[in-house]
Amino acid sequence: MKTPNLFSFYQKVEEQKNMNKQMNVTNQTIKTIELFAGVGGFRIGLEKVKRNNSEFKVVWSNQWEPSTKTQHASDIYCARFGFENHCNEDIATVDVSDIPDHDLLVGGFPCQDYSVASTLKNSHGLVGKKGVLWWEIYRIIRDKKGNAPKYLLLENVDRLLKSPASQRGRDFAIILSSLNELGYAVEWRVINASDYGMPQRRRRIFIFATKQNTKSYNILKENNSLEILNHTGIFAKTFPINEIVENDLIINKLSNDLVDITNNFNKETPKKNAFLDTGYMINGIYYTVKCNANYNGKTSVLRDFLEDEKNIPKEFYIDSEELKKWEYQKGAKSIERINKITGHKYLYTEGSMGFPDCLEKPSRTIITGEGGASPSRFKHVVKVNGKYRRLTPLELERLNMFPDNHTVGVSDSKRAFLMGNALVVGIVEKLGHTLLSEIN
Ligand SMILES: C[S@@+](CC[C@H](N)C(=O)[O-])C[C@H]1O[C@@H](n2cnc3c(N)ncnc32)[C@H](O)[C@@H]1O
Repeated sequence: MKTPNLFSFYQKVEEQKNMNKQMNVTNQTIKTIELFAGVGGFRIGLEKVKRNNSEFKVVWSNQWEPSTKTQHASDIYCARFGFENHCNEDIATVDVSDIPDHDLLVGGFPCQDYSVASTLKNSHGLVGKKGVLWWEIYRIIRDKKGNAPKYLLLENVDRLLKSPASQRGRDFAIILSSLNELGYAVEWRVINASDYGMPQRRRRIFIFATKQNTKSYNILKENNSLEILNHTGIFAKTFPINEIVENDLIINKLSNDLVDITNNFNKETPKKNAFLDTGYMINGIYYTVKCNANYNGKTSVLRDFLEDEKNIPKEFYIDSEELKKWEYQKGAKSIERINKITGHKYLYTEGSMGFPDCLEKPSRTIITGEGGASPSRFKHVVKVNGKYRRLTPLELERLNMFPDNHTVGVSDSKRAFLMGNALVVGIVEKLGHTLLSEIN
């Protein structure tokens, strides 16, 4: 595929930024930092939002990929947004005093084990495991003290609500309790982007934390739980749900001792979910309930995001020989496997999945392994004009609602990887609108 030069993109961004500087007219700027920035999904969503001359401005960003020497995501980020105020270092090594004060902290952090152990060496009496990135977010807001951001907007896989399997919800309870300790109230919602008309079936948890004395904090303090979850909370306002009723609500108190949560949370009923699709926490009490989207707007389907066939490079097409391998991967199977540790033989089975992918539905979730020609169960395959083919990086960008060619400059499979890691921008944009209207 012909790829535009990364440098010329960068030049255009700089020109645009200079023009913006000359016409600087905003009344209120929500100073934002983007952590675990990847290729900037949060930034793209937030920067689309303008209201009464107010806007979000990313004043600092951080992105560092631990597994590779070449920093593809960070390189793309700089090419699109400029090098200024971008940091390509392990966040764990960044001094909090080097991070500018900000109003909003955003980021999609990995789902890891958030348990803590007490230690006498640590002045706070407890320590999270090294390399666990939640504790880096915690460290920034804790050490910013009086200048800690008023708001956090975070994204994670929905599994976060259920992990670890042996103590469902313990990790999320640790996040809630540590934010409570730092003076925040928290709302959360598992959102499937396609439930609100967006092009991809991608279920992710979004977490919004708001500091004492903000308008959004007071809404949680002053309204009753049904009002908050049905109408007045940030998620209820942005992503309407079918009315929930009191009987379905679970209300519980969280321990404020993180070691106690680590050791005891949900020990009695480890298979029972402590946290459901949506909820909020204030003053250490959490309210949670299952919910269903209530959306009657425009919908979109995979077909709407496909490129013109005449622009599809030939390597994306699948010939009849290869097609058999794809059909095998996508089909039902039962394979004998041996457990490497115990030597125990077992039957691994999986059902068949729709093949090729349906063009009249939103796409399935894009995963990091989406790129490359090797047949796989999880990659998308579409059939257009009688021919089977994989999706191009441009199409993957569209399914995440990124601008076309945002990731140009690295290999096609790296571009697919970056989109597998990213998020559906439209969700952030909608949340940004609500947040800005609440701040103003
Ligand atoms: C789930 S992705 C977020 C993607 C982003 N929201 C986007 O739109 O592209 C998490 C990112 O965190 C980065 N990361 C992992 N460990 C890191 C660390 N120690 N310091 C900084 N960034 C890290 C990864 O390279 C990855 O790009």
